[in-house]
Amino acid sequence: MVNLHDIRYLRIGTPDLDSTIRFATDIVGLQLSAREGKAAYFRSDKVAVRGDTRDHTLVYFEGDPADQAIGFDLHDPAELDAVGAELERAGHPVHFGTTDECEQRRVKAFISSHDPSGNRIEFVAKPYNSGVRYFPGRDAGITHFSHIGLYTTDARRDEAFWTRLCNARVSDWIGDAALLRIDTAHHSLALFPSSHAGVQHINHQVEDVDDVMRAWYFLREKGVKILLGPGRHPLSTAVMLYFRGPDGMIYEYSCGVKHILPEQEATYRPRQFPFERYAVCMWGSVPDPEISAFPQGETTKATPLRAVMY
Ligand SMILES: [Fe+2]
Repeated sequence: MVNLHDIRYLRIGTPDLDSTIRFATDIVGLQLSAREGKAAYFRSDKVAVRGDTRDHTLVYFEGDPADQAIGFDLHDPAELDAVGAELERAGHPVHFGTTDECEQRRVKAFISSHDPSGNRIEFVAKPYNSGVRYFPGRDAGITHFSHIGLYTTDARRDEAFWTRLCNARVSDWIGDAALLRIDTAHHSLALFPSSHAGVQHINHQVEDVDDVMRAWYFLREKGVKILLGPGRHPLSTAVMLYFRGPDGMIYEYSCGVKHILPEQEATYRPRQFPFERYAVCMWGSVPDPEISAFPQGETTKATPLRAVMY
């Protein structure tokens, strides 16, 4: 069993680093913490919320936006070699990070491999934390990088990768998409069926609903395309807002995500939701067709309200 402890970072290419940096700082509100050669590092963590501050949580580098890697912290860094062997046995070839690659990631060691869809996953031992306070690029209220959505070419197969080979647990399903937790947060990872691999969206938590609504006005004023929300996900109970970022990446702000505490693990049972409008957003906001992970024909239906609106 590959015991994951935390999601650490997303590394992603961009053809226009300067404008992507401007979006990440001036629009999203991340802190540009370092710019080294062709890479820019961003921080997002408020120590008072997370209890620690990750060195960085997002890296944009000059390159192909399809060049992506998601880093997960191992619960026990001493297990790194065993994790490598276990991944190889399960048919997932691994690459042990070189000294340079470890330095780029600010980790002591890591293994790179792929999930069955081909998403590059990095299993990290002893990632660096920072003693420097997070100073946001704008006052968006971001408290931390929280989760990503991943495309999967076979939802059941990839769910098994994360829940049988790794220690993720299903918190809920919407359609065939599994929302998976690795700590107490309802999900650190969501797997959306698609014809291809890749990151579907990146989530940052904000302090409260005021930040979500302020962002809605702010983003519209700045001409940023809103893709979903403001609304509330019934699965995680999070109030959310999705918007379009550079290179078609979808960003999400949310607050109030449900936590499943250790004492609830034994009795918690994942729920199945249909992929329809009020399962995506209980306030009824309709996803923009750009969110291709949400089947449009289904997410504009309004069937459940008939039962209560008479
Ligand atoms: Fe999300």
